[in-house]
Amino acid sequence: MSFPFENASNEEKVAKIKAIGSTHPNNLMARHFRADYFGFRDESQQNRLWQIIRTGVENPDSQMGAYAQNSCDYAEFEPLFEPMIRDYHKIPLEQEIRQKHDWAAPLSSFNLVDIDPDLKRVSMRVRVGRNLADFPLPGAMTKAQRLEFETLMIKAFSTLQDDLQFGGEYLSLTPGLPQTIDDETYENRVAAHQMFKNMEGDPYLASGGISSNWPFGRGMYISNSGDFIVWVGEEDHLRIMSMRQGGDLSGLFGRLLTGLEKLGGLIPPFAHSERYGYITSCPTNLGTAMRASLHLFLPKLTEGGHNLEPAKKAAAKFDLSVRGAGGEHSDAGLGGLIDISPSARLGVTETEIMRKLYEGTSALWSLENS
Ligand code: ARG
Repeated sequence: MSFPFENASNEEKVAKIKAIGSTHPNNLMARHFRADYFGFRDESQQNRLWQIIRTGVENPDSQMGAYAQNSCDYAEFEPLFEPMIRDYHKIPLEQEIRQKHDWAAPLSSFNLVDIDPDLKRVSMRVRVGRNLADFPLPGAMTKAQRLEFETLMIKAFSTLQDDLQFGGEYLSLTPGLPQTIDDETYENRVAAHQMFKNMEGDPYLASGGISSNWPFGRGMYISNSGDFIVWVGEEDHLRIMSMRQGGDLSGLFGRLLTGLEKLGGLIPPFAHSERYGYITSCPTNLGTAMRASLHLFLPKLTEGGHNLEPAKKAAAKFDLSVRGAGGEHSDAGLGGLIDISPSARLGVTETEIMRKLYEGTSALWSLENS
């Protein structure tokens, strides 16, 4: 891969970003980029800023167009990030950003079966992104740091392996470890939606340095029950998730929370800020860093799986995002199977996310069946 802007002067870089701002007005980095702010930094800060925004310059069709490289970047380069964050998360200037957390959801009884008994076999998934304060974010990690981080996680997982509820195995993509899996096993885990895809296929991640040194330091932990999974070395250091079939959303959240607390007790602290909550590589994930979703058949609202637009339009009224069941940028699956999830990550609590998913599903379901 070639990086045509690497040797460009600052003037050329600024001109390029300005041009992207007019051809791609939805690129939030380009929309909010301020040449004067960039121009007044010292050289080492300019280099750091460049690494952060490079993904948005090399991929003009970016929606956000920036990945933090270190946990301190959001505070240190606040004038760069803040306008993008407010724009994406729809937080007006007069509203203070101060992320609150609330995990009361597992104590409630949000069960989709109460909406319709037919919803008893829905695929549910909730994940949170987490990064360790002790390491650079994935975009800036050296190969040695990726391996050091994985070693630290393997040690924590070896303790978790003895847990009655969370016992499981660690599967590594790093060549030559006792836990290393072969290509076929990897592909099967990807097909089963347990393991993440080869990150080298994602140009946004590549430009952000996040997929560098692939597949070193990458892997996943999966509980014997199959419903608790931890990704190591993807877009964030950790993606911790719970996946289940059924309708019991509270049970799903409870499973994630317990696992998160157990794992968190075995490793150094997560990067967290009073304002932005859990620090993530991508500004879209700040706050709760949580994505809670479920797969729903909506044949009517997707015109038999051929058009996501009516479903997207209906879902937007309930603060839900719609995508195909095959992941980011995929189409609706056979029979109109889609993935719905509350859009907000920052400025909402974990419990509010679950409530939005429950109430939004209820609303979409009655539109579909009306
Ligand atoms: N960097 C990409 C963009 O700006 C992805 C943004 C959201 N997706 C994500 N996986 N973080 O469009």
